[in-house]
Amino acid sequence: MNVLVTGAAGYIGSICSEFLLSRGYQVIALDNLQEGHAAAVPPAATFCRADLGIRSQIEEVFSHHKPDAVMHFAGEALVAKSVREPSTFYAANIAGGVNLLDAMIRHNVKKLIFSSTAATYGEPHTVPIPEDHSKSPINPYGKSKLRFEEILSDYRAYTGLHYATLRYFNAAGASAERGEAHRVETHLIPKVLDAALGLIPQLEIFGSDYPTPDGTCVRDYIHVLDIADSHVRALESIEKVSGEAFNVGNSRGFSILEVLDAAEGITGRKIPRKFSPRRPGDPAVLVASKEKLHRILGWQAQHSSLDEIITSAWTWKQKHPHGYSEAASR
Ligand code: UFG
Repeated sequence: MNVLVTGAAGYIGSICSEFLLSRGYQVIALDNLQEGHAAAVPPAATFCRADLGIRSQIEEVFSHHKPDAVMHFAGEALVAKSVREPSTFYAANIAGGVNLLDAMIRHNVKKLIFSSTAATYGEPHTVPIPEDHSKSPINPYGKSKLRFEEILSDYRAYTGLHYATLRYFNAAGASAERGEAHRVETHLIPKVLDAALGLIPQLEIFGSDYPTPDGTCVRDYIHVLDIADSHVRALESIEKVSGEAFNVGNSRGFSILEVLDAAEGITGRKIPRKFSPRRPGDPAVLVASKEKLHRILGWQAQHSSLDEIITSAWTWKQKHPHGYSEAASR
């Protein structure tokens, strides 16, 4: 099966591409390389540089490569940026997504796995969060993903599209060859490891007055390889699960201070830190119920202990302290 992976040069998209190839799928890797890295795209994938904002470029990819299914990772994903620049999020995550859906319909491609987020829930009133929890996103990022979930449901009703939505909690960790490297890094675990390596002077902890046991935010960290596995399971059962949303998390939250402690143990280094004010748009606690993903798709996290997550990220970071080489081209 030929799977079109959008955002295939990004962190999660590149590792899911690697996982798909290891399972015998062919991968058409689409990315505009605005945030992604050409060197992250697995060499066995067919790379297409294209932008979901430009319909003619998407059309060309579909006409030439004739995908059978799509995994849609491309989009804007930083909560804090979404608070500053909402229009960028609505353009990329909604308008770009609609352009993709229209190409799928024109080419009769009926299978889609969509990357959504825990940010669609907002501040939870029940933890662990089940999929039918109310959706009140507190930042434009979460709102853009929620709107696109609603749009998908319309396309399903009117065009017969089969789709599944996967709402990731905090993706983290690395495979042997690929890891997390953003041009401007904002995510906790890579920044903690940058501080361990002395690449930044200290880790800033955003907020010490949250209603959590130690006052810092609690997140559910999920290994990117377990996320990749959830995608393949959803694709393989797409007709059975069409229209469903699944959380992808580990049902276990860790505070920022707990992550720092674990990272100090794994790296054997002291990690300098300082407390700073809260970051706008951050909920206090996000922890998934993973029950539905397990019950319906038989998924179990295989790599998502905090130790394995940080160890894999640390191994990758030590080999690639400055991320991917930008010299690589395809
Ligand atoms: N944090 C710090 N210091 C840093 C970086 C992060 O204290 O230098 C804190 C954040 O304030 C937050 C926690 O660490 O409380 C995790 O922050 P990340 O930036 O790593 O991740 P987010 O929780 O903001 O967001 C991530 C993804 C989103 C996704 C969300 C779901 O970026 O796409 O997880 O939980 F929606």
